[in-house]
Amino acid sequence: MLNFLKKFEQTGPNSDEGKVIALMNQKGGVGKTTMAFNMAHALAKKNKKVLCIDMDPQFNFSSLFNFTPNENTPSIFNLLINSIKELRALHTGCLLSESIVGIDKNIHLLPAGQELSGFELSVAGISSPRQLILKRFIEKNNLKNMYDYIVIDGPPTLGLLVVNILCATDGVLFPFIPDAFSEQGLKNIQQVVEDIEDMGITKTPVNLGYIPNLFEARRRQSNEDFDSIKDRFSNAPVFEPFSNKANFAKSMASKKSVFHYESVQFQKLQEQFLNMADAVESRLN
Ligand SMILES: Nc1ncnc2c1ncn2[C@@H]1O[C@H](COP(=O)(O)OP(=O)(O)OP(=O)(O)O)[C@@H](O)[C@H]1O
Ligand SMILES: [Mg+2]
Repeated sequence: MLNFLKKFEQTGPNSDEGKVIALMNQKGGVGKTTMAFNMAHALAKKNKKVLCIDMDPQFNFSSLFNFTPNENTPSIFNLLINSIKELRALHTGCLLSESIVGIDKNIHLLPAGQELSGFELSVAGISSPRQLILKRFIEKNNLKNMYDYIVIDGPPTLGLLVVNILCATDGVLFPFIPDAFSEQGLKNIQQVVEDIEDMGITKTPVNLGYIPNLFEARRRQSNEDFDSIKDRFSNAPVFEPFSNKANFAKSMASKKSVFHYESVQFQKLQEQFLNMADAVESRLN
């Protein structure tokens, strides 16, 4: 495992300093994990070195990469707890190199496990800033020097995990379903971003844009909802909508990115993800 990591360090990232991006929405089932998985592959396709961090106790991101939690591989929870001096003595030690799972030439994964749901409680009593645990972990381990992009999949909640993700990221992408209910989830998470800005403890992440997903283009109501949402979220780009597509759902069920397929239907999806990767790159550089 160590040799494999060393190789990555030697080749080094292509750009000066890597960027951290996160896929966030308080609402569940809007496509955060799906978008994170395919964005990671789009960036890898562009020859970027990508570290995927699963920050959701449901560990769907890890599962999409075919990873099953096991006792030999410490999860991001173990790494974060171990990065806190006061807690280190209370837990079994672990190394970053034991946790990183090699997915392919350009993608590595730091997996999650169900124990991540206990994160908030585990760090409740520490004296260092609880909001900055993930940010400091990334800094201490020089991860931005090892990777071009760190892609984080967020949980459908608003607690300390989400605050840690937002404090650690350079930019956020917001997948959402363009319906009458989706606006509230987006507003709530943006409120957390504003709270972080008010706290002044770290740089506020850039809003990289909104990703309309599971769009039903043939329904008139969907088009009306989408138009009104687009008007209200004028503070960042709104990407081309992703339709609700059976073949897309099937590819996810088979744990394959859209880049795995060659048919025309997938070419369109591939284009959408590559365009998004280009947009993210130009907005963060
Ligand atoms: N455009 C799409 N077309 C068809 N199915 C999709 C599409 N986008 C996502 N899905 C499917 O919808 C389901 C929910 O997607 P996903 O797990 O990515 O959402 P999520 O926001 O990460 O959910 P959670 O909040 O639980 O983490 C998955 O089964 C996924 O395969
Ligand atoms: Mg998810």
